[in-house]
Amino acid sequence: MSEKKLGAGVIGTHAWADKAHLPGYAAHVGVDLVAVCDIDEGRARAAAQKFGARKVYTDADALIADPEVQMVDVCTPTHTHLPLSLKAIAARKHVLSEKPLHTLAAPAFDAAARAEAAGVRTKLGFTFRYSPAIRQIKAWIEDGTLGEIFHIHGFEQNSQWLDPDFPLRQVAPDAVRDKLIPSSIIGYGSHLIDLMRWLGGEFGSVAASMKNFIPERVVRGEPGRQHILIEDGAVGLIEYAGGAQGLLQTSYIAVGNYPGVEIRVYGSKGAAVARLISEFGVAETLHFAKAEAVEFVKVDLPQSSLPPGTTLNTDWPELYYRNLVRFFVDEILHDRPQECTFFDGAKSQEIVDAFILAHAERRWVDVGA
Ligand SMILES: NC(=O)c1ccc[n+]([C@@H]2O[C@H](COP(=O)([O-])OP(=O)(O)OC[C@H]3O[C@@H](n4cnc5c(N)ncnc54)[C@H](O)[C@@H]3O)[C@@H](O)[C@H]2O)c1
Repeated sequence: MSEKKLGAGVIGTHAWADKAHLPGYAAHVGVDLVAVCDIDEGRARAAAQKFGARKVYTDADALIADPEVQMVDVCTPTHTHLPLSLKAIAARKHVLSEKPLHTLAAPAFDAAARAEAAGVRTKLGFTFRYSPAIRQIKAWIEDGTLGEIFHIHGFEQNSQWLDPDFPLRQVAPDAVRDKLIPSSIIGYGSHLIDLMRWLGGEFGSVAASMKNFIPERVVRGEPGRQHILIEDGAVGLIEYAGGAQGLLQTSYIAVGNYPGVEIRVYGSKGAAVARLISEFGVAETLHFAKAEAVEFVKVDLPQSSLPPGTTLNTDWPELYYRNLVRFFVDEILHDRPQECTFFDGAKSQEIVDAFILAHAERRWVDVGA
């Protein structure tokens, strides 16, 4: 049987591409992995060999211009996400970008509008939308199983930077280091906010408190510990436009394993708790309770909720990204509705900015005001 295949090209072939993106293309029967590209040629060649890409480029423009490439995957450092994505859109290629598209909301909204005008599809790398447990909660909200939604709690916290000698990455060169630098609310909060908005609808107003707990840290590429006040813990309150209440915590220093995402949804008919915390080889768990049977029970999801060939023992980056790639490729090949787009990325950025303003001015902030 001959299958329709989508020609894919991946830009950036280092750690995250190797662990998450490239396994997704190699595993999907609907993908022709046409090319990979990295400014480090050795890396690109090694990735091509490992994942079966047919061509190797060191110039992203050349990959984007390749007529066999129908979708471009941008898995490079943050400051390159927007320019590379805009080039792909201008060349009328579908594009998946790592998050964030940009550290400001306005250019991200602009890129979403350009993609819409060009008639190409976009996806932002919000990994945890592709957790089977999270997708089941979304289905329970939509089919009414949970009833009217009252409370949504979201956490993204782990101990990645509890040890001050574990080097900080991606510190902006012009950052003022003796003032609080919003960090976990951006790095972790952007994912979490996207999940909480997907599940609960648009945010109305937010309030927040952010803090630095560990003031001396090692910064990648600099000698010894530096005085740098990154925000390593944030809490936020949310009034949803639809009436629900939300509560979030992001932390770089909370003891616990990766990725450390937990979502709890409480409705008039039932409640669900998804824990995306890799523990003892299991990537995630889902529990459910009903108004008439309040003890939470573990829910086992069907194999069809997982990408073919994976189990809950698959490493979480590969598990979730194989699902993300599967959804994006199938959306394009079978003309399915879009989700998790550049517009959603821009909305998440807008909400991050509202939390930062709420903390700075010690007040409630209306989102998008
Ligand atoms: N969604 C998630 O959960 C998640 C998790 C981890 C990382 N990320 C993001 O994924 C991205 C990649 O992460 P990483 O750890 O692999 O980064 P990295 O810096 O280790 O690797 C990036 C690669 O891109 C290459 N590169 C840089 N500019 C290029 C250009 N113009 N053209 C071609 N190649 C270029 C570099 O040579 C390098 O090999 C980052 O934006 C990171 O924030 C997302």
